[in-house]
Amino acid sequence: MKATIAVLPGDGIGPEVVAKSVELLSAIAENYGHEFTFVEGLIGGIAIDETGDPLPAETVAICEAADAILLGAVGGPKWSDPTATVQPERGLLGLRQHFGLFANLRPVKTYPALLEHAPLRAELLQDVDILFVRELVSGIYFGERQEQGDGDSSYDTMAYSRSEVEQVANVAFRAAQGRRKKLCSVDKANVLATMRLWRRTVVDVHDEYEDVELEHLLVDAATMHLLTRPSSFDVIVAGNMFGDILSDEASVLAGSLGMLPSASLRADKFGLYEPVHGSAPDIAGQGKANPIGMFLSAAMLLRYSLQLEGEASAIEAAIDATLDAGLRTADIVSSGQASVSTDEFAVTVIQNL
Ligand code: IPM
Ligand code: MG
Repeated sequence: MKATIAVLPGDGIGPEVVAKSVELLSAIAENYGHEFTFVEGLIGGIAIDETGDPLPAETVAICEAADAILLGAVGGPKWSDPTATVQPERGLLGLRQHFGLFANLRPVKTYPALLEHAPLRAELLQDVDILFVRELVSGIYFGERQEQGDGDSSYDTMAYSRSEVEQVANVAFRAAQGRRKKLCSVDKANVLATMRLWRRTVVDVHDEYEDVELEHLLVDAATMHLLTRPSSFDVIVAGNMFGDILSDEASVLAGSLGMLPSASLRADKFGLYEPVHGSAPDIAGQGKANPIGMFLSAAMLLRYSLQLEGEASAIEAAIDATLDAGLRTADIVSSGQASVSTDEFAVTVIQNL
């Protein structure tokens, strides 16, 4: 098949892991007889430096002409002055909003090869396989806000409409139907009005998915249950900010934030694929980055935007084989001593395809 992929490396370790993913996808294209065209664009801090805008119109145009977007990471200390009028993160948030990518899928699973590295007891981590579905284009991230300006107060507002909750709940219920048929909805219905709407709506949507077992957890309790009984969860659905926080917490289960991929989707096949980890400026340019989160994001791109399930599974199997062979970047080894660089790890995955 022919496909055009918009490639947005961004900042920090983004360019390193994105470059390796383009090599990975090119190898897939060669092995399976596909033709992928990669078109690169600016986003985040580097886009601010070069154009003054974290999401230049040219980047939006490149993405609009593509079948899917592959993104590295945005942000870094160079642009984190709180008084700055524009942040690199605005580029990413703008992209999610522009394309209406309301459903953010973040799978988290444990790898037998990494269990001994995990900070939690290995027995707790057996068979952990969770899919987070995070609402991505509404909630407190996109509510009315007042920047501090020169005053002494500011605010952000959290608003949800019934239809916004319905569409993300539908994605979550459908995902659960294809998995172990359990959905946990996370809210703060004991305090927040928006979260009471959230819970009522999820209960109503549940009527259409009676084969799925539904559980509700308040977000504070959810943070604890996630660590005390992680293997009991199947799909977890949450609003924008709670989903952001819980998915970072859940990375501890996988051993490292560097392991986690994500897909941001809307109702059609178009999507944005990025690792959950950020730009990690402290290790940028040193060949230390773990490429797994980015590689698994590329696999999700093949699966969800291009319907290439076999090719996606091939990438996942090649990563498993590389871990089973003992190759480790520093973030997934207890001693903190990497056995290989980003490049070496990536080359081995590509050989294992
Ligand atoms: C994430 C990140 C982003 C978010 C930032 C970089 C804007 O933390 O994708 O989880 O908060 O959504
Ligand atoms: Mg986050």
